[in-house]
Amino acid sequence: MALDRVAAIVVAAGSGTRLRASAPKALVRVGGKPLLLWAVEALTVGGVTELVVAAAAERIADFTQVLASQPVPARVVAGGASRGDSVRNALAALNATAAPPDVVLVHDAARPLVPPEVVARVIAAVQDGDVAVVPVIPVTDTVRQLAASGSTVVDRSILRAVQTPQGFRRDVLTAAYAAPAFANSTAVTDDATLVERLGYAVRLVEGSPSAMKVTTPHDLVMVSAMLEV
Ligand code: C5P
Repeated sequence: MALDRVAAIVVAAGSGTRLRASAPKALVRVGGKPLLLWAVEALTVGGVTELVVAAAAERIADFTQVLASQPVPARVVAGGASRGDSVRNALAALNATAAPPDVVLVHDAARPLVPPEVVARVIAAVQDGDVAVVPVIPVTDTVRQLAASGSTVVDRSILRAVQTPQGFRRDVLTAAYAAPAFANSTAVTDDATLVERLGYAVRLVEGSPSAMKVTTPHDLVMVSAMLEV
């Protein structure tokens, strides 16, 4: 199977309250453009040829306007109450098209500076036969696990932090979001976890510290500084 049509779902419907900005997080500007466009540029340079962005319903017009300047076809759909709901809505939009893509990446708009090489690595792994692909980085902090009786240090050499974009065969991601396990998935914070619950193996590829998630005002300062070096 060629698997050469690659779409990306960009989830940007979070409230972003921890950023304490007046605009939705994805529309906050750094280095002269909204976070959303930095993410979209990385995805398209990395090989994505079609986009569906999940945004808060009342912001669909703003997002559509921001996306008008970029080169690949892009639609904006209403997100949902949870990140998973937002992905599911965007996936439904992709599946409703006459010729749905073969490969779907799911990316957090909150990770604007993911390097295009990471995007390309994820796409290549799906095209080479892995049905679910996740970029990860080593954990550099020492980590403690909390318990009722105190805490213990965890061996960080066996831990990896999970990033996006995560890449999937579209049919597999669609099945994962249709599965009953999704109904009580409050602990599911990424898409690969759902696919894994269907019994598929998840392939790890090298991510990048640059793909950090913007959550707090401090993270925004970090991203701005990264753009200046
Ligand atoms: O809240 P969290 O940092 O996990 O959000 C990760 C990404 O999911 C963000 O880009 C956010 O906009 C998106 N999201 C969404 N719909 C929600 C909640 C989060 O699209 N209901």
